Amino acid sequence: MRHVIVAANWKMNTTPADAGELARTIGSRTREPGVIRVICPPYVCLAAVGDALRGPEIVAADGSGVAVGAQNVHHEPAGAFTGEISASMLAGLATWVIVGHSERRRDAGETDPLIGRKLRAARAAGLRTILCVGEQLDEREAGRAEAVVDAQVRGCLEGAGLDALGVEDGLPWLTMAYEPVWAIGTGRTARGADAAAMAVAIRATLAALGMSNGGQDVPVLYGGSVTSGSIGEFLAEPDIDGALVGGASLKPDEMAGIVARAGMTAAARRTPSGEPGAPGEPGASTGPGALAAPTA
Ligand code: PGA
Repeated sequence: MRHVIVAANWKMNTTPADAGELARTIGSRTREPGVIRVICPPYVCLAAVGDALRGPEIVAADGSGVAVGAQNVHHEPAGAFTGEISASMLAGLATWVIVGHSERRRDAGETDPLIGRKLRAARAAGLRTILCVGEQLDEREAGRAEAVVDAQVRGCLEGAGLDALGVEDGLPWLTMAYEPVWAIGTGRTARGADAAAMAVAIRATLAALGMSNGGQDVPVLYGGSVTSGSIGEFLAEPDIDGALVGGASLKPDEMAGIVARAGMTAAARRTPSGEPGAPGEPGASTGPGALAAPTA
C-alpha cells in the first residue's frame, strides 16, 4: 500500500514572522489518518515552521504529525557557493526536500544531472526527496510528454543508487511529483486520466532503471493548480498518491479540503473495497463524504 502524501510548496511566500502561524493553522486543520503532510516553506522560514509544528521530525508513517521540507538544496556538501544551502545545513530544520522543480529548472538553469546530484546529497544527509518532472505544453501537444518525462527521470536517477531510495521506517525516501509545466500556477490542470498515465509511465521508467518492486512502492504525486475542487479528479486515480500543492497551499481552507479528500483515499486503501472516489468522480459512490466547496 503506497502512502498518500500532500506536500505544500509555499514557494517565495511568507516571512519568518508569519510562517509559523500559518503552519500551525494548516497543521491543526488537516489531521487525517494515513495522510502524510509536508510543508515546504522558504529556507528562512524553516525554523519558524518547525518550531510551530514542534520539531521537523514529527511525521510518522501513519501520517500523524507534519513534516517540514525545504524547496531546494545545493549539490555540494560545503564550499565557496555564495547564497547556497547544503543538505547538512538543513539537518534539524527539515526532513524532506523538493528537487528539480520546474521553476528552478527554468530560473536557475537546473539540469537533470545536477538535480541527480542534489538528490544524492539529500539522501546522504537523511532528507527524503520529492523529485519533480513534467513536460512543457508544446511537448504534450506534440505527443512527447511521456518521452520527455522518461528522459528527465533517467537523467536525474541514473547512477543515483536506487537501492537506497525505497521505503524505510514506513516512509519513502523517493517520492515523484508529476507536474506538467503548463499547469503550474495557471489554473489549468491536467486531466486525471492523463496524469495517471504519466504516473504509470514514471513507474515504468523506475522499473527499467532497476527500482525495487518495479517502482510500485514509489509514491507519485500530481502537481499543477491543485485545489480542493480539483484534487478529487486526481485521487480517484489509483496510480496517483497525492499532490504537490503550490498556490492553494497558502490557504488553510483549501488545504483542509485537499487533505480531507486525501483522507478518503487513505481510508479506502486501508480497506479491501478499494478507492470509492468522491461524488461526481469516476467510480464515485453516492454516499456522504463530499468535500465542502472551497471557501477561499
Ligand atoms: P501550483 O504550484 O499549485 O500553484 O500550480 C504547484 C507547484 O509548483 O508545485
